[in-house]
Amino acid sequence: MQLALLLFLLVGTCRADYFFGDLKDWFDKITAPNEYCNREWITLDGKGYGKGLEADLGRYLFGQHIASDVILNAMTGFMNNDNPKKSLVLSFHGRAGTGKSLASQLIVKNIFKKGMDSRFVHFFDSIINFPHASLVETYKSQLQNWIRGNVTNCAHSMFIFDEMDKMHPGIIDGIKPFMDYHYKLDGVSYQKAIFLFLSNGGGEIIRESTLVSWKAGKKREELKLEDLETALSSLGFVYYGESIVVDFFIPFLPLERQHIVQCIMVEMVAMGLQPDHNKACEISDKIVNYIPDDERRISVPGCKRIAGRLWHFMQ
Ligand SMILES: Nc1ncnc2c1ncn2[C@@H]1O[C@H](COP(=O)(O)OP(=O)(O)OP(=O)(O)O)[C@@H](O)[C@H]1O
Ligand SMILES: [Mg+2]
Repeated sequence: MQLALLLFLLVGTCRADYFFGDLKDWFDKITAPNEYCNREWITLDGKGYGKGLEADLGRYLFGQHIASDVILNAMTGFMNNDNPKKSLVLSFHGRAGTGKSLASQLIVKNIFKKGMDSRFVHFFDSIINFPHASLVETYKSQLQNWIRGNVTNCAHSMFIFDEMDKMHPGIIDGIKPFMDYHYKLDGVSYQKAIFLFLSNGGGEIIRESTLVSWKAGKKREELKLEDLETALSSLGFVYYGESIVVDFFIPFLPLERQHIVQCIMVEMVAMGLQPDHNKACEISDKIVNYIPDDERRISVPGCKRIAGRLWHFMQ
């Protein structure tokens, strides 16, 4: 009997953490508030909208003056409009590691209290979610139902499509009506929804234009949306077809050494280290490779490989 009691106490002590951990999870689940489609959880109007996004873009998104300006203006205009005629559609273009995903996360963070965990934010990756060309019709109707159901549930839903350049045109055709100038489709209004498309398409055009402008002696900040938009929208024509549903084609410029230094400093902080500018400058030359070969001006992977490689270069 005593032995049984001892065993019970021993096992109980060992499992207490486990047991109370479970209990806490369960308690959290029943007490955690649900997320609703209302202003407690979502920024629903423009009053004061923009300040947080402006600060976040200025603070976290390096070297993207065009993208930052256009995103801020497009988002502020849309959020301030009580009766938008159509959903907002932004198409982000640029080479890998230039901040497209980061920018989309900053947009989300400034609308949804739960950020990317919000149940009103829907993320798709063409390669992962729609891999088989033979299943296009199935994907198309599933996606249409998903968008219809979710917008019916919450008009302010957001849909993010990554790897857009790899998306089958049949699927794009299927979702275009939701982004067009329709008052309602089957009784559902899509005018308050936001669609973000992310792709590497156009990255080469943007890179060439940046280099040409630099060789002509211009400052990076002198590059304007208009210098790149025509080229990008003709590319958009290839993706989205005749119906021009996209409100802005937004270029993400290739990142230069100064931005790599900034990204290294961010990673140093993330790793719990003291940010050291001199060390970051020193590492910036080795941690990523640069093109063109003679000038070594543009980082090939952007800021992408820094997090994984920094520790090695700090030794
Ligand atoms: N312009 C930038 N300013 C600050 N950090 C950046 C920038 N670009 C990239 N980063 C950082 O580099 C990493 C990769 O960036 P991100 O995922 O946004 O790139 P991407 O443009 O979406 O690339 P891909 O086309 O491969 O998806 C992230 O940690 C991000 O914070
Ligand atoms: Mg990305």
